[in-house]
Amino acid sequence: MNLSMRFLLCSLSFWAVVAGCNQTVEVEEPKKPVDPLVRVQAMVKECMVCHGTKEAQRGPILNGMETWYLTDQLEKFRSGIRGARASNRAEYLMGVGVKKVESDFELAYLADWFAGQAPVPAIRTVKGDLEKGKAFYEERCASCHGAEGEGNRLVRGPSLQRLEGWYFLEQMRKFRSGERGYHPLDEGGKAMVAVSKDISTGTMRDVVAYCVETFGPEEAPSNRDKYGPDSSAKPPLKPF
Ligand code: HEC
Ligand code: HEC
Repeated sequence: MNLSMRFLLCSLSFWAVVAGCNQTVEVEEPKKPVDPLVRVQAMVKECMVCHGTKEAQRGPILNGMETWYLTDQLEKFRSGIRGARASNRAEYLMGVGVKKVESDFELAYLADWFAGQAPVPAIRTVKGDLEKGKAFYEERCASCHGAEGEGNRLVRGPSLQRLEGWYFLEQMRKFRSGERGYHPLDEGGKAMVAVSKDISTGTMRDVVAYCVETFGPEEAPSNRDKYGPDSSAKPPLKPF
C-alpha cells in the first residue's frame, strides 16, 4: 500500500469516527404497553353499545348466558361461521362487532363477564297458546334444551332462560329459513335448522310464548302498563 492510499484510508476512518460520534442516536420512547385487562374492560362498553337495553337497534341481552355458549358463539363470529353474510343484517353487525376482539384472552374474558352479569327483566312481546307451546316444547325441544330450558351442554344446547321473546322468535325464524346455521362447520346451527324446518309461525309463537312465560326472564312492565291501556303495546326496543 502506498502512502497516499494509507492516508486516504486513515482519513476515511477518521471521518467515519467523527460521523459516528455526531450521529444522534434516536432512542424511541418506549410505548407504554396497554394493560390487557384495562383494554378488555374498556371493550365491554363497546359491546354494550349494542347489547344494552337502551338501544333501539340492538342485539340480545347476554347477561347470564352460559360462559361456554358465549365462548362458542364468539368463536363462530370470529372465524366467520356466523355473521359473515350481509343479508343477515343483525348477524352481520355482530360480525363487525367481534373484530375488536384481538385475543383468546379477551374472548374468554368477555364471555365470562357477560355470563356473570345479573339477568335483565324483559317486556313480553310474543303472545301464543301456552298449553300448545308446552306440549310442543316437551316433545321437540326439551331433549336438547332441558325440561326447564336450563340447557344441555352434552348436546351443546344452550339455556333458553335468558332470551327475550323478540330475539327468541327471530332466531327461530332464522334457523327455519337457513339464515342462521348455514355454514358447513356450524354443527349446532345445523342441528337447529333441521329441528325448525317444519315448524309453522303459529307454533313458533306458541313455543316462544311458553318458554318466556314459564322459565324466561322476569317480566318488565310494558309501556301499556306504564302509560295506561290506550298506549301502544309495542316495546320501545324495536327488534330488527
Ligand atoms: C354493532 C353492534 C354490535 C356490537 C358492537 C357487538 N354486538 Fe354482539 N351482537 C349484535 C347483534 C345484532 C347480535 C344478534 C345477531 C343475530 O340476530 O343473529 C349479536 C349477537 C351476539 C352474540 C350471540 C348471542 C346468542 O344468543 O347467540 C354474542 C355472544 C355477542 N353478540 C357478543 C358480543 C360481544 C362480547 C361484543 C363486544 C366485543 C359484541 N357482541 C359487540 C350486535 C353487536
Ligand atoms: C338436537 C338438539 C336440539 C333440539 C331438539 C333443539 N335445539 Fe335449539 N339448539 C340446539 C343447539 C346445539 C343450539 C346452539 C346453536 C348454535 O351453536 O348456534 C341451539 C340453539 C337454539 C336457540 C338459539 C339461542 C340463542 O341464544 O341464540 C334457540 C332459540 C333454540 N335453540 C330453540 C329451540 C327450540 C324452541 C326447540 C324446539 C322446537 C329446539 N331449540 C330444539 C340444539 C337443539
